[in-house]
Formats: sequence, structure tokens, C-alpha cells
Amino acid sequence: MLIHGGRSQSISSALRVDTMTEHNLIQTLNEALGWELRAANMYAHYAANIRGIHRLQLSPMFTTEATESTMHADIVRKAIVKLGGIPVTERNAHPIIHTTLYNEMLIHSLETETKAASVYSSIMVEIESIGDQEMYDAIEQIYLAELRSLEELRLLME
Ligand SMILES: [Fe+2]
Repeated sequence: MLIHGGRSQSISSALRVDTMTEHNLIQTLNEALGWELRAANMYAHYAANIRGIHRLQLSPMFTTEATESTMHADIVRKAIVKLGGIPVTERNAHPIIHTTLYNEMLIHSLETETKAASVYSSIMVEIESIGDQEMYDAIEQIYLAELRSLEELRLLME
């Protein structure tokens, strides 16, 4: 009885740890989703508003980033549902600053990508602890895409 009691106690505490981890993961994934929804909105806004000669190249680039953010949001949303959570429908509240100047747009883009990369790196640590390889691979692809965007922006701003 004692052994049985001890075992079921450790199983239930293990389950509690799992549930906590999943709960935290759903929260962090929702944070990422909020940032993706915001990024899609911000990049579409900049693609439409950019003025001057840089419009030629940066407008398509911002459109590509907007599309990529929507695709990332879709993957993250499905991961949240898989974990039994409810995906957020509102974008992250961090203000989207209106401008028509390309250099200001690049600064705001860099800020957004830096934030995204940091949220995804903490998500990857959390997924590792629940041991879902498929989810880990999907999020890692997003994380690597954020790092590539970050590097592109850094080079554009030199
Ligand atoms: Fe993204």
C-alpha cells in the first residue's frame, strides 16, 4: 500500500509538472502568435506606405514578411490547439508606428524580429521538455526564419 501510494503520488506530481509545462508552453505560444499577428499587420502597413525609390525593393520585401508572419501564425495556432489551448485572436498590443520613411520602417522591423526570435528561443526550450519532436521541428523552422530576417535587416541597415 505504501509503495503503491508513493508511486501514485509521484505519478500525479509528474502529471502536475507536465500540465504546468504545457500550460506555460500554451502561454508562450500565444505570446508568439500575438507577435506574428502584429508583424503581419505591421509589414502590410509598411508595404503600402513606403515612399521614395526604396519602395521598389522594400515594398515587395515587406509583403513577403507579412505573408511569412501569417504562415508562422498558422503553425503556432495549430500547435496551441494540439496542446488543448485556445489561440489568441488579438495582435500583441505593442504600437505599430506609422511612417513613410524606409529607415524608420527598418528600425521597427528589426525591433519586431528581435522580439520574435527571443520568444521562439524560449518556446523551443519549453517544447524540448515536453518531448514533442514534430512540434519542436516546426517551431525550429520558424525560429531559423526569424534569425534569417534579423540578419537580412541588419545588413540592410549597414
Ligand atoms: Fe515570424
